[in-house]
Amino acid sequence: LRVAVLASGRGSNLQAIIDSIEANLVQATIVAVVSNKKDAVALERARKHGLKDLFVDPKPFAGQPDSREAYDRALLAILQQHDVELVLLAGYMKIVTAVLVNAYANRMMNIHPSLLPSFPGLDVQKKAIEWGCKLAGCTVHFVTEGVDEGPIILQAAVPILDDDSPETLAARILVQEHKLYPRAVQLFAEGRLRVEGRRVFIEQGKP
Ligand code: GRF
Repeated sequence: LRVAVLASGRGSNLQAIIDSIEANLVQATIVAVVSNKKDAVALERARKHGLKDLFVDPKPFAGQPDSREAYDRALLAILQQHDVELVLLAGYMKIVTAVLVNAYANRMMNIHPSLLPSFPGLDVQKKAIEWGCKLAGCTVHFVTEGVDEGPIILQAAVPILDDDSPETLAARILVQEHKLYPRAVQLFAEGRLRVEGRRVFIEQGKP
């Protein structure tokens, strides 16, 4: 399975997926790590593991009326050049447009640090604490045009403790993210994810 990872930041989820592949727990090959940020730690992690790292600068597209679509057309060309079969958003801080969403329908995943559909968007650990939730967690979902709205593949829950700060909660959730995302990728690699409308069914593996 030929995978590309899009990341803007520290890339700890990318690292978890790299580690799972290297440990043979996930049958996939990362053919490119792409970032919209030149100094993303994720790109360094890719280089360290001998993976192809690509910085695609958004600036040259900024003046155009359809700048986000134009940027995504450039990304799509790269993904197609590399015969990418599955795209993983991992801390990718740009909203993907229909250009990518349609080309990779049910073949693009995102990980989000809340129990969707609660708390889409940003600063979600803080929002969950302030709401008074007793549980938080993370969600791996297929990407659709609505931000954090696509069909849910896997979720994991963690408690919210009385003395949690957004940072301590984020750290507890992140431990689960690093398990959940590789599992979702492996299920995809095994061809076991079946999407029906909003619902994703995990089919039985071969014994
Ligand atoms: C994670 O919390 C992920 O759920 C969210 O952005 C963060 C990325 O962290 N989408 P990292 O770059 O993978 O360390």
